[in-house]
Amino acid sequence: DKGNHRHFMEKEIYEQPEVISHALSNYVDFHSHTVKPVDAAIDFKNLRGLAISACGTAYLAGLVGKYWFERYARLPVEIDVASEFRYREMPLSKDQAALFISQSGETADTLACLRYCHDEGLKIGAIVNVKESTIAREADAVFPILAGPEIGVASTKAFTCQLAVLASLAIAAGKARGTISPDEERQLVKSLAEMPRIMSLVLNAIQPQVETLARDLSKYKDVLYLGRGTSYPLAMEGALKLKEISYIHAEGYAAGELKHGPIALIDENMPVIVIAPHDRFFDKTVSNMQEVAARGGRIIFITDEKGAAASKLETMATIVLPNVAEIIAPMVFSLPIQLLAYHTAVFMGTDVDQPRNLAKSVTVE
Ligand code: M6R
Repeated sequence: DKGNHRHFMEKEIYEQPEVISHALSNYVDFHSHTVKPVDAAIDFKNLRGLAISACGTAYLAGLVGKYWFERYARLPVEIDVASEFRYREMPLSKDQAALFISQSGETADTLACLRYCHDEGLKIGAIVNVKESTIAREADAVFPILAGPEIGVASTKAFTCQLAVLASLAIAAGKARGTISPDEERQLVKSLAEMPRIMSLVLNAIQPQVETLARDLSKYKDVLYLGRGTSYPLAMEGALKLKEISYIHAEGYAAGELKHGPIALIDENMPVIVIAPHDRFFDKTVSNMQEVAARGGRIIFITDEKGAAASKLETMATIVLPNVAEIIAPMVFSLPIQLLAYHTAVFMGTDVDQPRNLAKSVTVE
């Protein structure tokens, strides 16, 4: 049932504040602002490394997770798409654990990768939406994302719930390894707890602007997304979402890679969507944005209040989100990205929930 929404995708975008809160409540205590203990099968305290693997959007959630595990838990993360991971003949050891992320829990490559790591003697964690799935059944520890059924082929609420679970696990790992203090733990969990409220605010605030912008975006054939730090995987997620439902060619790049190739493409025919909260990387990203502007590129700037105040560049549009704690920025900044792809596809008249050539669950390799 789509409720008052035109598509499941739209419904699922708007469900995020509620399902994120549900997901978080499984991993954090909202009263004491601490993380709940993690399934003992994954011994974060004594791990030497973590291998993460997944496909598509779930892989991009894993990439954000890598930044968090490394930063908050000082835990080295090896990550790859499942279809490559399996064949890389990567040296693995039993003091590493493997983490697989899958909405459906049935993705063939992810499952094959899980079995490979299991045979290598690694403990297996699975971040899944479907608890009865094969991937969940074969894991030593299951971390449900509790997003509820996701019907739209383009993953939205599963992505942000995967992020919420990864953030919680990274904090729990940091706590177990003594790399974050009790005070930092409280601050981080407090920030996570604010997310549902902020997400609702943002969804309501940006909708009209994003819809207007989508009308413009639907006229282009190519779009480039740029971001740094955790906004880099988000740039790739933005590009993936746009291409899969609107069929517009889009690429996501690390902002710093711009001058190593893609800058050659910049002209007025390829809008550049820059995702840049006012974080440690902001000034660097803005200087990449200047390089785009200097070559006549049109910029859609997705930033926060501080970022908007700090940049004087002329843009095609600037979407201003509230200033939020760094740990929740990837979830909050997912919202304009999802809505922009959604409304662009709606303007183009594509089959948003069932885009051509795609299946919700890819059970063949
Ligand atoms: O069910 P899974 O999370 O394992 O699916 C992985 C990908 O097939 C999936 O995320 C795909 O990329 C989505 N259509 C993206 O919106």
